[in-house]
Amino acid sequence: MKIRSKEGPLLAPLPTVMVSCGTMEESNIITIAWSGIINSNPPMTYVSVQRSRHSHDIIAERGEFVINLTTTELAKAMDFCGVRSGRDIDKFEAAHLTREAADEVSAPMIAESPVNLECKVTEVKSFPSHDMFIAEIVAVHIDDKYVSDRGAYDYGSMDLVAFSHGKYYRLHSKELGFFGYSVMKPKTAKKRRKALKK
Ligand SMILES: Cc1cc2nc3c(=O)[nH]c(=O)nc-3n(C[C@H](O)[C@H](O)[C@H](O)COP(=O)(O)O)c2cc1C
Repeated sequence: MKIRSKEGPLLAPLPTVMVSCGTMEESNIITIAWSGIINSNPPMTYVSVQRSRHSHDIIAERGEFVINLTTTELAKAMDFCGVRSGRDIDKFEAAHLTREAADEVSAPMIAESPVNLECKVTEVKSFPSHDMFIAEIVAVHIDDKYVSDRGAYDYGSMDLVAFSHGKYYRLHSKELGFFGYSVMKPKTAKKRRKALKK
């Protein structure tokens, strides 16, 4: 039997990312769980931000931000950036995070994060509680520690954090499968097993 929940946004797991905004000199970080990918080519994303947030006005004014993925090591800093406002403190300083210059936007990237997505806002959609900043991902940076010689990205080793109904979970467990594995040919399965053993 299932109960009918009165709560709406129970989609899970979601990423919980640190979104940096502003400039190298005057920057802020906001933690965001309401985010996702909405188009592949060009790559597009969104962040939904309440109008009361300090970061809301910065992103609205500058039209840019950086999405920084959260690892287990960064979990406390991520939580902190979601419960304190940049109106009162410099979150980079307070959370001991390092600003790193981005290529295409003036917002800084968080150096300690393994993946940074530089984003330029293309559209803002207003909803009752949040403004949704729709943006094009104009540059992506991945720590080369997670890039193999053949150019494959090892997201499994990043120890990323997922958000499910108010709690944080590690994503470091064993891989279950991969895109399309439910229909792969036995020959491909054999090849893959061999590759995984190496
Ligand atoms: C895990 C987590 C997820 C959050 N997700 C969102 C979100 O998607 N949108 C939002 O507006 N606020 C979200 N918040 C709240 C903001 O991060 C928080 O209000 C923050 O202090 C705003 O900072 P600012 O005033 O410096 O912009 C989240 C907080 C946490 C801890």
